[in-house]
Amino acid sequence: MLPRVTIAAGPVELRPPQEADVEALARACADPEIARFIPLIPDHYTREDAVTWVHVFAEESWRAGGADFVMADPATGEVQGVVGVKPADRFGNAEVGYWVAPWARGKGVATAAVRAISEWRFQQGAPRIDLLTDVENLGSQRVAMGAGYTREGIRRGAGMRRDGSRSDLVAFARLATDSGDAKRAFLPDFPHGELTDGVVRLTRLAPDDAADYHRVMEVPDVMASRVPPGPPDFADSLRRCRTAGMRWLSGEQAEIAIRDAATGAYAGDIQLSNIIPPLAQAMVGYSLHPDFRGRGFVTRSVNLLVSWAFEHTSILRVVAGTNPTNTPSHEVLKRAGFTMECLVKNLLPGPNGTRIDNIQWSRSR
Ligand SMILES: CC(C)(COP(=O)(O)OP(=O)(O)OC[C@H]1O[C@@H](n2cnc3c(N)ncnc32)[C@H](O)[C@@H]1OP(=O)(O)O)[C@@H](O)C(=O)NCCC(=O)NCCS
Repeated sequence: MLPRVTIAAGPVELRPPQEADVEALARACADPEIARFIPLIPDHYTREDAVTWVHVFAEESWRAGGADFVMADPATGEVQGVVGVKPADRFGNAEVGYWVAPWARGKGVATAAVRAISEWRFQQGAPRIDLLTDVENLGSQRVAMGAGYTREGIRRGAGMRRDGSRSDLVAFARLATDSGDAKRAFLPDFPHGELTDGVVRLTRLAPDDAADYHRVMEVPDVMASRVPPGPPDFADSLRRCRTAGMRWLSGEQAEIAIRDAATGAYAGDIQLSNIIPPLAQAMVGYSLHPDFRGRGFVTRSVNLLVSWAFEHTSILRVVAGTNPTNTPSHEVLKRAGFTMECLVKNLLPGPNGTRIDNIQWSRSR
């Protein structure tokens, strides 16, 4: 059994739960974010659920070799959240889980608590601690990165939503031998969540954009430029929108909605992909719905995005590739300051087993 200690964790202290915590636990667990991302917590959480957690579930976990702590305000003892580690698996590995009460969020409480419980659990002999979180739970992914955890991949269908459907989880882990340094995101967020020049507004693609995103993917010339060319699948469009935040945070891709700044209407999408940090290079790509074409939206979007990348990331060179017959796209790139570099023969798969040439462009900082 792990020792029932009190652990100092910056803005909070971690201590075993007690009867006096139940009112605050019940109030916190009525929060919709906790219900959404911790689907095994009872629906319509009551005081009795909190009593059962304190006296039965937390007790059982401690007896089985796990540890459940309340994150408490060191001055008042008030509950700020809960953090725990499961009993070790057959290889000695632990798993951390946590939530923070709505009244204590945004103050670094979760990051400090996860860091402190992890370091304590390593001292108690764990070689490795896993941390699993929903692909859409960006706050929790930031907590993992801030607490020195490394992103290892996606566990497909490993989670369950409250409605019983399966969800993908991001797998993070920290080893006892890791430095524990906080992980910095390669791509920062847009300032105040957007880039705008007053005509277009760029915002990170979000789950609510799925229907609009899919509508653009179904436009015939957009379908033809997919790699490989072909009709999109709505499940794939939805997955792209649901995972855009995660892919941004992991530095894999910045996938962005282009909106009409005047109306907020979704006009298309633009991405920074193929991000190669050692080369300081990324690729820009874009698709616009025909209703918004001919108004300079894409040129403005490319300019906004490339300028942001040059100013706020270590990217030095942005490349683009176009079909040799795609004159409108050539005009966009020329106006956005790109230089045509070369023609690559047979680079991309075309319809019916054919291959398509590609013109390559670049713009450097
Ligand atoms: C996720 C949660 C634990 C974060 O708690 P917190 O104490 O507010 O987190 P912190 O203050 O330590 O914030 C850590 C980082 O996440 C960011 N963050 C917090 N909530 C966020 C959100 N909803 N969306 C995006 N980023 C968020 C913070 O800005 C901070 O970023 P930084 O490190 O770049 O400065 C809390 O929102 C929560 O309890 N959510 C519901 C339950 C849950 O998801 N538990 C985890 C299950 S795996």
